Amino acid sequence: MGKNIVLTGFMMAGKTSIATELSKITGRKLFDSDQVIVDEAGMSINRIFEKFGEGYFRDLEAEVIKKLSELEDAIISTGGGVVLREENISELRKNGVIVNINITPEVIKSRLMSSKGSRPLIKDSGFDDVLARLDARREFYKNCDFMVDARNDSTPKEQAELILNILKRNGEI
Ligand code: S3P
Repeated sequence: MGKNIVLTGFMMAGKTSIATELSKITGRKLFDSDQVIVDEAGMSINRIFEKFGEGYFRDLEAEVIKKLSELEDAIISTGGGVVLREENISELRKNGVIVNINITPEVIKSRLMSSKGSRPLIKDSGFDDVLARLDARREFYKNCDFMVDARNDSTPKEQAELILNILKRNGEI
């Protein structure tokens, strides 16, 4: 039985692309908490927010995280707000190592315009609003086990390899 590798991080950090590469390299199965929510609810994240609000989404997210935390040997990519509930992190940590993909304002700037459509919390936000949201989240992201930077000058594959090296070096996998 091996620990799950869990990716957290702010919107646009590249969690999904990096998790996809982690899955390819390791042969482990990939689970994306947002995708599980969409499949279970039968509607998009935007629609869930519109119809039921953020609180309802967070409850769904917590249920999905509880289920995903039972897995073994999986790659789990999470939504950017998963860290907001401490219970999510303690569930994920029971059988997983939690890696935070840290995003800088520069990287946000370069990705923001193309990333708004599917993300209800930033679809009407300017750069400054997004930065303020990131700042409010920083404390929560610290509650993860390892941190690597989101970079525009490395590919998701290179970032996945870096994460695997760090985890191996630390005896986590
Ligand atoms: C959210 C991030 C989104 C999604 C939802 C809320 C957040 O996931 O879970 O829109 O609160 O940061 P991504 O981080 O994959 O964009």
